[in-house]
Amino acid sequence: MDILRDVVIIVHLIGFAVLFGGWIVELFGKRGVSKVMQWGLVIALVAGLALAAPWGLDGDMNYMKIGVKLIVVVVVGALLGIGGARQKRTGSVPAAIFWLIGLLTLANASIAILW
Ligand code: HEM
Repeated sequence: MDILRDVVIIVHLIGFAVLFGGWIVELFGKRGVSKVMQWGLVIALVAGLALAAPWGLDGDMNYMKIGVKLIVVVVVGALLGIGGARQKRTGSVPAAIFWLIGLLTLANASIAILW
């Protein structure tokens, strides 16, 4: 079980890498929303939910922290949705939405490590 959980953590980190990496690419590009970012969020979310399940390992889980991360992810997902729709309609994503996506993603990684 330990090894399986470690694999899920790696998948979770890959999700983060794909989401944030996709955002960095956009930062140096047209500052929009890409499929890569949407996939990264889905990967991080699914793996994160799996990690939040009780695995029968010792040590209590910090459900407060997990709850906050979940809320942040839902907000990022909404921003990706709204930004993606705007992009389709007008060809660009409002700067505030673009920056919030990157900053909130970084905030979630910081919460994971610092809290
Ligand atoms: C964009 C969204 C997310 C990012 C960037 C992110 C980032 C991270 C990072 C960097 C770690 C590793 C921390 C460490 O090494 O100790 C981590 C661990 C974890 N994440 Fe996330 N996360 C995200 C979303 C979520 C969600 C939605 C959940 C659950 C609902 C979640 C649950 C967890 C759990 C339970 C761990 C701890 C794994 C362990 O060490 O036991 N994450 N996350």
